[in-house]
Amino acid sequence: MSGMRFEPREGVTFGARVSGLKLPELDDASFATLDDHWLETGLLIVGGQFLDHGQQVVFAQRFGDLEFKLAEIGNMRQDGSLRPDDGSDDMMKINRGNMGWHHDSTYMPVQAKGAVFSAEIVPDEGGATGFADMRAAYDALDDAMKARLEGLRAHHSLYHSQAKVGHDAKPGRDGTVTSDDKSGKSYGGYGFHDGPVSIRPLVKVHPETGRRNLIIGRHAYDIIGMDPAESAALLQELVDFACQPPRVYHHQWEAGDVVIWDNRRLMHQATPWPFTQARRMWHSRIAGDPETEASLAA
Ligand SMILES: [Fe+2]
Repeated sequence: MSGMRFEPREGVTFGARVSGLKLPELDDASFATLDDHWLETGLLIVGGQFLDHGQQVVFAQRFGDLEFKLAEIGNMRQDGSLRPDDGSDDMMKINRGNMGWHHDSTYMPVQAKGAVFSAEIVPDEGGATGFADMRAAYDALDDAMKARLEGLRAHHSLYHSQAKVGHDAKPGRDGTVTSDDKSGKSYGGYGFHDGPVSIRPLVKVHPETGRRNLIIGRHAYDIIGMDPAESAALLQELVDFACQPPRVYHHQWEAGDVVIWDNRRLMHQATPWPFTQARRMWHSRIAGDPETEASLAA
């Protein structure tokens, strides 16, 4: 696709807006160009796409196998009514939790490679998605901190991170989580992994770029061999340092937007919107390579 243009985000260490393309029509050479830019910049933003579900899944699968094909994110039920924000709805609890910075699926046996995320219905205000560059963050650490982090490993669990925002999820008899939506399609019931708690390094070499990235955020806790309070303080210090300009960009969505992020490099966060307004997004999660993204042994 000859008209494809990449405009880097100004004043930010990562990210580019892409124009002059229709994602479902990319030939192999154009996709390879897109993929190269994605690895280089970590986040691509493509407006005006309005992908249908099939188109989104087929496009996402060009990046690799999918951890899940399509999950609805937002505050709408299947019937179009709005979910209450009164503490009774599990999906809203997940929405609240996702306002903390995180990488996706660090709490699973294999961390996600990335995501294709599209906007169908957006509120008049709020609801931006924030992204933060953990490669630039690592690079910006002083040598003493880099040395301190070397070899450190933390636990990662969605039970832990959701409990911190008051969501006391209980494993169900079948290993899934008690939720108002057992369809398996709801993000609200995904990720409460009942196997061994994942363990991940705080500093990880990206398998494709060879660059070091911090792997931190809301799912991480209890660094192995460290007092829990000291661990919590260090993890918070790292997030506070990392998620600052010029390493942060908040994307204010328009319907039809598609973003593709590298989950091995970036953290992301949801932000609030007036919950009396509808928001409906679609998330396709690209599976990580088990060779490089698997949880470590304890
Ligand atoms: Fe997420």
